[in-house]
Amino acid sequence: MDEPAQSSTSSTNDAPYELQPVTHISSTGQQWWRRAVIYQIYPRSFKDSTGSGMGDLAGITAELPKIAALGVDAIWLSPFFPSPQHDAGYDVSDYRGVDPLFGTMDDAKTLLSTAKSLGLRVIIDIVPNHCSSEHHLFKAALVAAPGSPDREMFHFADGLGEDGNTPPNNWQSLFGSSGWTRVSNPDGAPGQYYFHLFDATQPDFNWRNPAVQKEFEDTLRFWLDAGAGGFRIDVAHAMFKKLGLPDWGGAPDGTPRPGFPFADAPMFGQPELHHVFARWREICDEYPDEPVLCAEANVRPLSRLADWVAPGQMHQSFNFDFLRTLWDRDALASVISDSLAAFDSVEAPTTWVLSNHDVSRHASRFGLDGVALDLGDGIGPRDPQPDMGLGLARARASTLFMLGLPGGAYLYQGEELGLGDHTTLEDRYRQDPTFLRTDGARIGRDGCRVPIPWAHDAPAAGFSPSGQSWLPQPAGWEEFSRDLQEQDPHSTLHLYHNALRLRSELGLGLGSLAFYANPKLPEVLAIRNGNTINVLNLGNSPVALPAGELLLFSSPTGEDYAAQGLLEANAAAWLRA
Ligand code: GLC
Repeated sequence: MDEPAQSSTSSTNDAPYELQPVTHISSTGQQWWRRAVIYQIYPRSFKDSTGSGMGDLAGITAELPKIAALGVDAIWLSPFFPSPQHDAGYDVSDYRGVDPLFGTMDDAKTLLSTAKSLGLRVIIDIVPNHCSSEHHLFKAALVAAPGSPDREMFHFADGLGEDGNTPPNNWQSLFGSSGWTRVSNPDGAPGQYYFHLFDATQPDFNWRNPAVQKEFEDTLRFWLDAGAGGFRIDVAHAMFKKLGLPDWGGAPDGTPRPGFPFADAPMFGQPELHHVFARWREICDEYPDEPVLCAEANVRPLSRLADWVAPGQMHQSFNFDFLRTLWDRDALASVISDSLAAFDSVEAPTTWVLSNHDVSRHASRFGLDGVALDLGDGIGPRDPQPDMGLGLARARASTLFMLGLPGGAYLYQGEELGLGDHTTLEDRYRQDPTFLRTDGARIGRDGCRVPIPWAHDAPAAGFSPSGQSWLPQPAGWEEFSRDLQEQDPHSTLHLYHNALRLRSELGLGLGSLAFYANPKLPEVLAIRNGNTINVLNLGNSPVALPAGELLLFSSPTGEDYAAQGLLEANAAAWLRA
């Protein structure tokens, strides 16, 4: 056992933890979404029932009892709608159907009814900022005249310069290069440009057009009528563009730069957005069982994100500032207090998230010290490789700490198995448009999307009966298989089960928060939520545990350390005060 950072005589009795005043009081609202834990399923990579190498809806339905048993409240399904799959389904060609790749509408109905019988709500991923260039509305716009109602559904504009060869403005695609693509007229001559914040196959809708608004209201009702428990709203912050589409000298994704605050970005956070969300909220409120709206609003600073979840707006928003936070005690403490202050100001729950399908998984990220990774990027074979042992220890610790915070939480499939990314995936397998549009300069997100392992001695680690897998799994993947972890009481899977059960029993999601001051332990973050002490050691040496009855710890050896009054390095624990 390593030497403790403090004097080796530190014990639970002289632990230097001083409780500070409460900064977040318990929630008075008892609605399910204020404390919900929502599990993200990425259908391509969850479970393949046919052997095609692509996960599918029947595969999800078959495994739902295991997800329900984990103790989550809902699943969020990434898109399964008909799509040419140029952006893994975020390029939708029909919002009210099922891509044959994933099954049929009947499969979707079976999934919804099975989830309901298991007490799981199903959150559908709606992609309103853009559709696929194969969507019938865009196809109609392509053959229509400039200025026609069909073109007004999108952002079509004439090019600049004598030949119209220069795009209408300087906006960039978030996947790289210009955000404008020029179309050809029916006679083959070059025509207007259309705007796409993402790939050229993902034209942006013109949300100022009431016909677009009507189209999506109908889509929301379609899925609510089918039994959906709510919606995750893709790129919610970009739906409206500033009138006149002025040039922008800041970062394409709005990341603040000197002179270019996020608030000035003409393609993000336009005030007109909020009328649409208010309308959507009214629609959800017409349905029983409180369907929710969750914004993928990548907005800065946190105080502005509160506008998305103010009364009458969405129920929740992802907390990307929390997700972006490095393994750093002070940064983590600030983001937690800023988050609670921002969301408390509008009486909305804070949500917490560590991984999703757009960012390197936290077990990989935290294995790289001090390397900032952003949404949309991953770790590739030419990058420094993470220390996976360290990453896993920190992933388990950060998850336990996160689940002990008041508010809601999002989990990404496979994190309950402690999965990291495939960081050595060969270029020839990559499918992310970010990689393709930047000629490989940005590695993209394929590494965090690899099909998950279910059985250690089955083809494709139990993902697919044929052994096919749309992205190859990395060497050693079977060691993380669910079947092995089910047998091992120290596994990451058991940690998630125990944490979710206790979180619910102790009412942590609706709880309060007070920080502990512990100046002698600069790498330890401790908070109190009701009667529970939640402590995270971000340092590389063991430290004194606060006094209390040990309830749960993140590492397999946590109990041995606790017997000596210690919390080991890169570990977390919950105690009863
Ligand atoms: C969101 C999705 C991402 C997708 C993008 C464009 O950020 O999470 O996967 O590529 O929107 O739809």
